[in-house]
Amino acid sequence: MRRALIAGNWKMNLDRGGAEALARALVEGTSEVNDRDILICPSFPLIPAVYAVVKGSNVWLGAQNMYFEKKGAFTGEVSADMLKSVGAEWVILGHSERRHIFKEDDELINKKVKSAIDQGLKPILCVGELLEERESGKTEDVVKRQVVEGLKDISVSDVLKVTIAYEPVWAIGTGKTATPEDADSIHSLIRSILKDMYSEEVSQKTRILYGGSVKPENIDSLMAKENIDGALVGGASLKAESFLRIIKFQ
Ligand code: 13P
Repeated sequence: MRRALIAGNWKMNLDRGGAEALARALVEGTSEVNDRDILICPSFPLIPAVYAVVKGSNVWLGAQNMYFEKKGAFTGEVSADMLKSVGAEWVILGHSERRHIFKEDDELINKKVKSAIDQGLKPILCVGELLEERESGKTEDVVKRQVVEGLKDISVSDVLKVTIAYEPVWAIGTGKTATPEDADSIHSLIRSILKDMYSEEVSQKTRILYGGSVKPENIDSLMAKENIDGALVGGASLKAESFLRIIKFQ
């Protein structure tokens, strides 16, 4: 059985006070939640303050990006070690906003996934098609390319440390959600890709999250699907009430 993971991607939102208050409400609201994993990913500068709040609680802490090099002349970047040193244990990589606004390609994302694993962070590799790719029937090709390239040269034992998030770009921040059936079928495609690349065991053990306009109103029907193991939540993770309801999906 795969354990559910509900992750909040705060993106470039919240100031220090808002981040601490939200983290505090989540820690309090999940003190009895032990049967699923809960993760929040604040902006880089807020990670230490949020760590002080979530340390020792049921809430994991992660970052939204990192660079693959360990150190050096890379102005504006942060390394996995830096993130670990301030309490992050997870990192979101290849988010569609990184791919499309900041022009990250599969090769760069693959280097980041490998570096995160090597340095002991748990990566969440995001994949997903654009609206025009969906409309021209390219969804499966795009998702396959992003999974295969993103996991290139990663061993069986290392790939088991990776979580995959399927986030169709047209569903992010738009209020349009993939139907649970559509999402489940892409998750199932991702499992078959993992089986071809690795093994049945990897395909069955890997957690695959859905992201894109996840809300209190649709989380239960998404989580009822066999291949959906959790959610990567943007907007609805910024308010304690809505994120707690999503965490407590039935
Ligand atoms: P929304 O939940 O705001 O659509 O964002 C999804 C997302 O990009 C999470 O990484």
